[in-house]
Amino acid sequence: MKTAANMSIKQETYIPALGYDRLSNFYDRTIRWTMPEEKFRKRLVEQADLQTGEKVLEFGFGTASQTILLKKQTPGANITGVDVDLKIRELALEKVLKAGIEIQLDLYHGKTLPYPNATFDKVVSSLVFHQLDRTQKASALGEIHRVLKPGGELHIGDWGKARHIGMRLAFLLVQLLDGFKTTNDNVKGLLPGFIENAGFQEVGEAGFINTGIGTFSFYHGKKSK
Ligand SMILES: C[S@@+](CC[C@H](N)C(=O)[O-])C[C@H]1O[C@@H](n2cnc3c(N)ncnc32)[C@H](O)[C@@H]1O
Repeated sequence: MKTAANMSIKQETYIPALGYDRLSNFYDRTIRWTMPEEKFRKRLVEQADLQTGEKVLEFGFGTASQTILLKKQTPGANITGVDVDLKIRELALEKVLKAGIEIQLDLYHGKTLPYPNATFDKVVSSLVFHQLDRTQKASALGEIHRVLKPGGELHIGDWGKARHIGMRLAFLLVQLLDGFKTTNDNVKGLLPGFIENAGFQEVGEAGFINTGIGTFSFYHGKKSK
């Protein structure tokens, strides 16, 4: 498998899980304390509704919390994770080992996903797109569309349109950490339009949760058959 670690291709710039590399060790604790973690992760698992035998990609696995939950819910699904951050992968590998489960965690340089066309039945992603600028969002969605099989599904949980002024103000905390450039489109509710622009059909918001730091939305899209 070609990864960022063994390729001489230039690594795309990326925002580490908590905005700064030195904070990555605190990522799990921060999510646990600032968000209704169990609720949003379970809801994304339910939405993705993985089936035994399905090939599934988690885009931006981070510390693998969502990945492990997906695998525990459907042990017969064949789950692969992909991320750009070597340090976060080390943290994720420790957790996966501890959980005693088998998940392939790949690294890549941030542009072309290291998989052939039409590889996966489903792609799941949580809390990643608000860390990508508009060009990166479009490129990532195009790549996800490419690696999905015809009829394949995309399920995203991420910051969405602030449902009221309190949510908009609370979200400023996330924006201070992750930057305004990558997060503005999320909080304006533009992600579904970007998903459609990448060629997906049946795009929509399945629901949202108002959290202490902003509105968290659940999006879906489907690749045509
Ligand atoms: C906030 S963390 C979310 C991690 C995890 N999905 C979760 O739910 O906790 C965002 C992750 O996206 C990764 N990431 C950033 N840019 C990426 C890209 N272009 N492709 C894949 N992953 C990326 C980061 O390295 C980080 O691990």
